Amino acid sequence: MQHKTQTEKTMESTPTNVTIKGILGMLLANLDDNNKKRLISLGMGDPTAFSCFTTTNVAENAVVDALNSQKFNGYSPTVGLLQTRRAIGEYLSQNLPYKLSPDDVFVTAGCTQAIEIAISILATPNANILVPRPGFPIYELCAAFRNVEIRHFDLLPENGWEVDLDAVDALADQNTVAIVIINPGNPCGNVYSYQHLKKIAETAKKHKIVVIADEVYGHLAFGANPFVPMGVFGSMVPVLTLGSLSKRWIVPGWRLGWFVTTDPNGMFKNAKTVERLKKYFDICGGPATFIQAAVPQILKETSDTFFTRTLNILKHSSDLCVKKIEDIPCLTCPTKPQGSMAMMVKLNVSLLKDINNDIDFCFKLAKEESVILLPGLTVGLKNWVRITFAAEPSSLEEALDRVKSFYHRHSYEPNGSF
Ligand SMILES: *Cc1c(COP(=O)(O)O)cnc(C)c1O
Ligand SMILES: *[C@@H]1O[C@H](CO)[C@@H](O)[C@H](O)[C@H]1NC(C)=O
Repeated sequence: MQHKTQTEKTMESTPTNVTIKGILGMLLANLDDNNKKRLISLGMGDPTAFSCFTTTNVAENAVVDALNSQKFNGYSPTVGLLQTRRAIGEYLSQNLPYKLSPDDVFVTAGCTQAIEIAISILATPNANILVPRPGFPIYELCAAFRNVEIRHFDLLPENGWEVDLDAVDALADQNTVAIVIINPGNPCGNVYSYQHLKKIAETAKKHKIVVIADEVYGHLAFGANPFVPMGVFGSMVPVLTLGSLSKRWIVPGWRLGWFVTTDPNGMFKNAKTVERLKKYFDICGGPATFIQAAVPQILKETSDTFFTRTLNILKHSSDLCVKKIEDIPCLTCPTKPQGSMAMMVKLNVSLLKDINNDIDFCFKLAKEESVILLPGLTVGLKNWVRITFAAEPSSLEEALDRVKSFYHRHSYEPNGSF
């Protein structure tokens, strides 16, 4: 009975009617067919839609070589090819004070499947997981299917979107199993300092919970703080590091990700847990074997020039975004993004005469200007909007110019002079 109540509670808290894909579909369906303006979507998280974001030849050639070798047309072990696990372990170990072994690494179908596996493995009766708000809705969806309760802690916009650690202390109880940290962050563009990550690790240790470190944007940091992986604190608290090639290599469709136990004290190494993990992987289909086989070459041979190029574009386009938003009175950006591909912008509806909230704003903007922004409600924050700045700078500039004229048309002052 109690179990059922909790199931209902988690199912109710699932934003089934406001998923990102659902909302984007509705925004697109609502476009005005008579509108001659070119559609610019800053709502999605897929940079391959813009031609300035292409992967490196190194990655393409590695896949072609693996395929042409005709050695990788069979099944791979369910936990992933050994050489792939080893290469991912070596890649991640470069930034850790200890060495990962291939046994720490499990190959997944993108970071999404790694999230699903982390939550499934940690799901026990009455378990709850702490997730950030704003956050990434996949966590809520997975938790709802596993009857895991979700509890939200706030990220603090005025404070570089740092975790409200007092809120974490207030939320955690004996049924809390994990805290989710997304760094570099989607949707906020945060990159946490070493000191803040250490405080998070200490808080998790105090509550005896695991840290699920979503590092799908690992190394995509272009601001003052360098990227520090949570696994650096793996000796203090067990960390599950989740990642993929999707964002750093700009190949989200390749579905190559990882689930890694960055846990030198071996909390996840007891025979029962390892057996359970391996069994779970027996029911998961990982990425295609030839994509896995390409990974060692991709991780070892990608040049710094490629990474620097991507970072330079992201820095340029996020700066452009911040600058353009300063000219749009109803939008403010409390913290400049330092990483990832998205930022959160606050919407002040009291400056607009016929806009009720973020959903209304995004729908009218799509209809009138053919510009798609994501309503903040879909990531947990009402009257905010998420802007994906992983876009061609010229498109970004045009999109934000249109947002500005939209503002002037809907503001109380016809010329917008506040
Ligand atoms: C894109 C993204 C994912 C999913 O990554 P895939 O490798 O495409 O499955 C997971 N977490 C966050 C925060 C993301 O932005
Ligand atoms: C919105 O704008 C009005 C008018 O400038 C201002 O008084 C108010 O404080 C703003 N609200 C927020 C939440 O920023």
